[in-house]
Amino acid sequence: MKFYIHTFGCQMNVCDSLWIAAALRQKGYTQVMSEKEADVILINTCSVRQKPEQKVYSMLGRIEPYLKNNPNLIVGVGGCVAQQVKETFWEKFPFVRLIFGTDGVRSVPDSIVRLSENPDLKISLLDFLDYYPEREIIIDRTLTKQQAGAYVNIMQGCDNFCAYCIVPFTRGRQKSRKTENILNECKKFAEAGIKEITLLGQNVNSFGKDKYGDGVSFPQLIRKVSKIEGIRRIRFTTSHPKDISDELIALFGELENLCPAIHLPLQSGSNTILAKMGRKYTIEDYLQIVEKLRKVRDDIVITTDLIVGFPTETEEDFLETLKRVKEIEFDSSFSFKYSDRPGTKATKMEPKIPDEIKSERLKRLQNLQDKLTHKSLNKLKGKVVEVLVEGKSAKQGKDNQISLKGREGGGRVVNFLTKQTNNIHVGSLVKVKITEIKKHSLFGEVIL
Ligand code: SAH
Ligand code: SF4
Ligand code: F3S
Repeated sequence: MKFYIHTFGCQMNVCDSLWIAAALRQKGYTQVMSEKEADVILINTCSVRQKPEQKVYSMLGRIEPYLKNNPNLIVGVGGCVAQQVKETFWEKFPFVRLIFGTDGVRSVPDSIVRLSENPDLKISLLDFLDYYPEREIIIDRTLTKQQAGAYVNIMQGCDNFCAYCIVPFTRGRQKSRKTENILNECKKFAEAGIKEITLLGQNVNSFGKDKYGDGVSFPQLIRKVSKIEGIRRIRFTTSHPKDISDELIALFGELENLCPAIHLPLQSGSNTILAKMGRKYTIEDYLQIVEKLRKVRDDIVITTDLIVGFPTETEEDFLETLKRVKEIEFDSSFSFKYSDRPGTKATKMEPKIPDEIKSERLKRLQNLQDKLTHKSLNKLKGKVVEVLVEGKSAKQGKDNQISLKGREGGGRVVNFLTKQTNNIHVGSLVKVKITEIKKHSLFGEVIL
């Protein structure tokens, strides 16, 4: 049996899909890279904005005709759209045979086996569990040989209910995972040669601060992971500014294997909008965090998420965002037009901002960010950075040179040329001198 997985959305979805793929391979299934060849098609979905939700429906529309040639084709839909739309999915797309939410991920591989044995069966795995759903730790050697880093979940869900956000509805309440299980997974990855661990959660700073917590705080967890032999780099995402502690900030100056990079969503530079969003910090609080982070490590890469056109956002509010973005000089940022999500508080807030104004604000913000990103990357010109090799670059070099890519400590992509004979491979840590600055990436030469 051949399976194909398509993943929309965040790293948590990527992590879930990687696990499903490893579990299916363990059962003897073969992963294929085209939906047309597959006997099982799984779509892991995102509903954070309307656009990714729409993409799921158009993908399903494209898939339906395949059933004519292959009536036994199993189609499964998981992730946030599945959790949001629930069983009504079957009314619109009756050919879908499996629907799963985040807590159902661990039952997906067995469910697929059951579905293939019983052509009349449909399965729904949408219940939220009252505990963190542990799943078997599968170390897939063929995969670990091809990857330098791995994702490790430390929690599920979110309790913050920011006014615009659907995540607490699609991923449920916050459930921290037990420290012992997290460390066990990290150790197994390290033993398989993985060099970089990215700890994942919707709100990692509040790890342990729920009824499932085991007394270990997020900074303490990082300390424990940093001691695991073979782990050369630790990253984490995502941090909420209201929960960031001085102890966490201090770790950036203390732990050699904690990467100097933090993704810290600001969302808006206007205190009025931040309050309406329910973010529970002011721009002044945020500026203070940035100052502290840069004091501990002046080269720390700070990235963010921003929303334009939140209901009631005035031109003045937006100018505050522009002003603050310029002041903070984010190394890069993701910015989005506000999108109404069903069930969230913001859907009821008026007035809504017209789409033309949202587009125009987004453009102004992204123009500013492009300049800041360029400025940030330029600082690396001529410098030597350490790169963890992740694979081959899209473009290949001439003659006996190969072109590889990886990331420097701050998380920026670096492409570089090297001789085949240098024996640099996925997972190697190499020194690269940056010679050229591209729009979003860097180019360099290996220093041996
Ligand atoms: N806890 C995660 C949230 C994931 S959503 C985190 O903080 O990263 C990722 C980003 O999507 C959010 O930071 C926000 O900027 C954006 N987003 C969430 N809901 C949105 C909406 N309704 N409209 C536009 N952007 C939204
Ligand atoms: Fe999308 Fe959020 Fe779900 Fe991730 S958690 S897939 S970003 S809606
Ligand atoms: Fe969403 Fe805010 Fe939680 S952005 S995921 S409600 S921290």
